[in-house]
Amino acid sequence: MTEDCFYANYDRKDYLHFDSKVVHGGLGCEPVTGAVSFPIFQTATFYHRSFDISTGYNYSRLQNPTRQELERTMAILEEGADAFAFSSGQAANMAVFGLLKNNEHVILSDDIYGGTFRICQDIFSNLGCEFTYVDMADLEAVEAAIRPETRMFFVETPTNPMMKVADITKLAEIAHKHGLLLIVDNTFMTPYFQRPLTMGADIVVHSATKYLSGHNDVIAGIVVIKDPGLTEHFQMQIKSRGNGLAPFDSWLVIRGIKTLSLRMPRHDQNAKKVVEWLKTQPKVSKLNYAGVGGMISFELDSMETVRRLFNDLKMILFAESLGGTETLITYPITQTHESTPPDVREKLGINERFVRISIGIEDPDDIIADLKQALE
Ligand SMILES: Cc1ncc(COP(=O)(O)O)c(C=O)c1O
Repeated sequence: MTEDCFYANYDRKDYLHFDSKVVHGGLGCEPVTGAVSFPIFQTATFYHRSFDISTGYNYSRLQNPTRQELERTMAILEEGADAFAFSSGQAANMAVFGLLKNNEHVILSDDIYGGTFRICQDIFSNLGCEFTYVDMADLEAVEAAIRPETRMFFVETPTNPMMKVADITKLAEIAHKHGLLLIVDNTFMTPYFQRPLTMGADIVVHSATKYLSGHNDVIAGIVVIKDPGLTEHFQMQIKSRGNGLAPFDSWLVIRGIKTLSLRMPRHDQNAKKVVEWLKTQPKVSKLNYAGVGGMISFELDSMETVRRLFNDLKMILFAESLGGTETLITYPITQTHESTPPDVREKLGINERFVRISIGIEDPDDIIADLKQALE
């Protein structure tokens, strides 16, 4: 969290079940007024009643009560020591890579989100940092890639967009044997399906734009840490880069999280039904699904089928992003993975016939009917 405040000592309610934790968050009610919906503290600065008295709040770039409530909530849900809310998933990733010193080395999942790839290649490469992309499911390849200057593993599991799954527990064992940090981008699973810190990871990062907020209405990012020793680094990122999440946006994410336990199983059930239907489709040549969650990707037989699908869909929306209530179809080669070099894309199978779908919470029969009329 961004510095201590008079809300600092609170009951984390770690004894509650996960489905109750999402509803009751950190403080839940605001203790001074009793507001059940934690208020949006829309203020830039805080008044000091006298020369010697402060509420603990000074200036919203440093600490804001609404952002802190979201941070408390995420620390509880991911079972971490502390959490930090950023203005986007990219800003959260930038803060994580900000742990690197010049010339350090990172091992990442080979089909990582294109924006994460861009952070590495276009920003941190200029500081002399080096990056190796490996299939994180191949533990021997991961260990073989370790160098004396390696600082961390950065893993997406399942990966975006090929849905490859890695073993977090085993990766944590390897990382810690070599004195490295394990960072997991938990955007696709959320703590509803997967809590990497309980499996050995050191840091969890999220694009909260996706399932956590869940309604395609806000851009946000979260970092959760296991070791409180990392707090100072992330506080400094927010204080100095000024990339903390705004109060209203923090409130939107808090509100979204309250229904996470209702939405995630629905995304998952709907996706499983769509996967079963897609398996019967002759125009679908390759199908990727991690076996859990709402994300599916597949390859089609021809460009003609691709064009028809995107043009003829009626309910499903052609839009970049994922994890919201609406089913979205994305074209990775020009959208999410446009920054991934063409040779890497080709090797992974992100070609012009490749599409990704984020299954929403609509009636699954309507999702299938829409795909059917556009594919047939
Ligand atoms: C897995 C993953 N991580 C990080 C990001 C970046 O998040 P944001 O768009 O909130 O900056 C995304 C965005 O698509 C993503 O899919």
